[in-house]
Amino acid sequence: MEFRGKLILAPLAGVTDATFRRLCRENGADIVVTEMVSAKGLLCDPARTGRYLAYDEAERPVGAQLFGSDPGEIAKAAEEIARRGFDFVDINMGCPVRKVTGGGSGAAILANPRLAGEIARAAVGAAGIPVTAKIRSGFGAERETYLDVSGEIFEAGAAAVTLHPRHRGQMFSGSADWSHIAALKKAFPGRVIIGNGDIRTPGDAARMLAETGCDSVMLGRAAMGNPWIFAAVKTGTGPATTPDARRALILRHGEEMFLRHGPPGMREMRKHLAWYSRGIPGSAAFRSELPEVSDPASFRAVVERFF
Ligand SMILES: Cc1cc2nc3c(=O)[nH]c(=O)nc-3n(C[C@H](O)[C@H](O)[C@H](O)COP(=O)(O)O)c2cc1C
Repeated sequence: MEFRGKLILAPLAGVTDATFRRLCRENGADIVVTEMVSAKGLLCDPARTGRYLAYDEAERPVGAQLFGSDPGEIAKAAEEIARRGFDFVDINMGCPVRKVTGGGSGAAILANPRLAGEIARAAVGAAGIPVTAKIRSGFGAERETYLDVSGEIFEAGAAAVTLHPRHRGQMFSGSADWSHIAALKKAFPGRVIIGNGDIRTPGDAARMLAETGCDSVMLGRAAMGNPWIFAAVKTGTGPATTPDARRALILRHGEEMFLRHGPPGMREMRKHLAWYSRGIPGSAAFRSELPEVSDPASFRAVVERFF
């Protein structure tokens, strides 16, 4: 699988489900990946965890992201990901949330580069599909381990490393330090480095590529309510959509969520509608109407009124 020269949709828990990923693929994203799923959960309760692993053929190439800290569990879970037909498996080594780091997973792995390597090696040995890892700069500001961690991961046979250059303690505050992406590319010039963090506009994507020399860029928050951003990055232009196209996509998003999930899918759409409305005059008043959205009729009425 080629990871160079790609525009990648970041894994976003609660956002990047199969429907949203496909809308992003159709609008210019080259590669998509599921939100993180627990390796342990997948092994112990595959029916429940498996709900997060639904995907459509039209999404390909599509990866699944795993979190965990036990190389044996990661190996078995990576094998299961391959069995389900995913094109690659990504290992989460960056999630800063205590529920994840408390169990030694996510960003906690950054404190132990050797463990990062063992986890990657276990996945590579078992999966039979490409393995990638998504990391932060380090667990804390005092110890930025991304170079050592990436060295171990590449040594283990991983196909690419994505760096979101904040350390764990920053959560999402401050700004991403792109100089870390440049340093990582400089340290591993022959390896695939994917840059991530704070790309908000098409210009930001071009600037990250130029300033850091990274091979591909991944963006997350900028795609929330704006799946067109990928096309805009590719053409280097401003808004890549018209009001009619926007309304049509939003209606389709809702219809597919209803087909897939029934009424709970409509409630899920409330947050997407809030994101879609960002920057449009009257959006604050529009957001106050969102609790009304509970079935296809109320969804359509609200969308047609505002968009
Ligand atoms: C709501 C939300 C959910 C996220 N979920 C995940 C996740 O499941 N796995 C992961 O590796 N990163 C996750 N992230 C981090 C993003 O993938 C990305 O690294 C981060 O948002 C920085 O990129 P951006 O500035 O383009 O958003 C999440 C971020 C947000 C805001």
